[in-house]
Amino acid sequence: MKVLVLGSGAREHALVKAIAADPEVDAVIAAPGNPGIDATALCVPLDILDGQAVASLARDHDVDLVVVGPEAPLVAGVADVCRSAGFPVFGPSAGAALLEGSKSFAKEIMAAAEVPTALAHICTTIEQVGSALDAFGPPYVVKDDGLAAGKGVVVTDSRDAALQHGERSLAKAGGRVVVEEYLDGPELSVFCISDGTHVVALEPAQDFKRVGDGDLGPNTGGMGAYSPLDWAPPGLVEDVVARVAQPTIDEMHRRGTPFVGVLYIGLALTKRGPKVIEFNVRFGDPDGHASFVRLESPFAQLLFAAATGELEGFGRLRWADDYAVVVVIASGGYPAAPRTGDRISGLDAAGEVPGVAVLHAGTKRDDSGALVSAGGRVLNVVAVGSDLGKARSAAYDAVSMVELPGSHHRTDIALKAERGEITIGA
Ligand code: AMP
Ligand code: GLY
Repeated sequence: MKVLVLGSGAREHALVKAIAADPEVDAVIAAPGNPGIDATALCVPLDILDGQAVASLARDHDVDLVVVGPEAPLVAGVADVCRSAGFPVFGPSAGAALLEGSKSFAKEIMAAAEVPTALAHICTTIEQVGSALDAFGPPYVVKDDGLAAGKGVVVTDSRDAALQHGERSLAKAGGRVVVEEYLDGPELSVFCISDGTHVVALEPAQDFKRVGDGDLGPNTGGMGAYSPLDWAPPGLVEDVVARVAQPTIDEMHRRGTPFVGVLYIGLALTKRGPKVIEFNVRFGDPDGHASFVRLESPFAQLLFAAATGELEGFGRLRWADDYAVVVVIASGGYPAAPRTGDRISGLDAAGEVPGVAVLHAGTKRDDSGALVSAGGRVLNVVAVGSDLGKARSAAYDAVSMVELPGSHHRTDIALKAERGEITIGA
């Protein structure tokens, strides 16, 4: 099987590695890819928002499967163009990608499918935002309706800050704001693979969204993750499939926009059970790779089965009996104003730590061929070990070998879980 993977971050590096490890796969092409992906796949520069260009690359290489990594090409309809050109695609149509592309649409689907989620008001004026804030009280949760590259959500005790975020989001063309009830409890991510009808869930992961240790500072795209979650109640994944994933997939099917790809369900485990915080239509970064790095079933065949409507016959997933921890190394200034162009070294030594792989997120080669930082999140260090403590120490050993001037990372990824300190919320 020949597979084309779209995207250029650590998520796609993780996808390419997992796909290339499938014995059925003989070649992986990545567009545009990155310097890390280049070691495993043929990287081809391309505007991945241009569906026709993607389809013609797929044709040139005669690929058997197109895997779309990030949300932007999905929302832009790239999966639709490739499907019309006759390629099996792992990734939803533009219509189904609205589950991530519009938070109000996601809320509408959840209401129709009776999926447990935070109560919400959808607002189009600042007066409505103000009354919704007062209806719920603090902590306030205010969300930009559209895609906002990780900057769309503000959770704050300050009514002024909440209102300001509402104003900023409303100021955009067609601006809409979702104000919702605060959900208290540990967060987790469940990745549900679907062929439009059937659902297969991966093992859950926990993501660390805030930039600083102790969950302090602003939200980011994710600073680290681990899987599996020993503290999750037994039967949680089955419950999430039964009460969230399957009803959502059924509702999308009923509306004529079947969802093919991965439905990423972000949940809070409240005292009243799991409630949906958000839907995404792609794998999480880094929580996605924390989850699927332990998968022993052939990954490309799983994605192919989803893309071709054959998930039912795929059988039960097999998992390695170990733990994965991912630590993200971010550039100085991330998330507000990441600095770029700094030299990166020590990757070979880091990659030799047993159980460790170093994924490239925001890297590039400069004119002299040296590896430099090119984004906010620069590298994702993934470690697998026989328990959480071993996976953590392998990850942090490797992180300490990487040199990137000005960089920072969290030191407490998976620490509370290792200490058994996670409790279900109020
Ligand atoms: P989102 O982009 O929807 O994932 O939101 C980013 C982060 O904001 C989430 O991971 C949560 O930590 C937080 N968040 C979003 N919605 C809520 C909510 N209703 N209650 C509590 N925290 C939330
Ligand atoms: N780590 C969160 C995300 O991928 O959206």
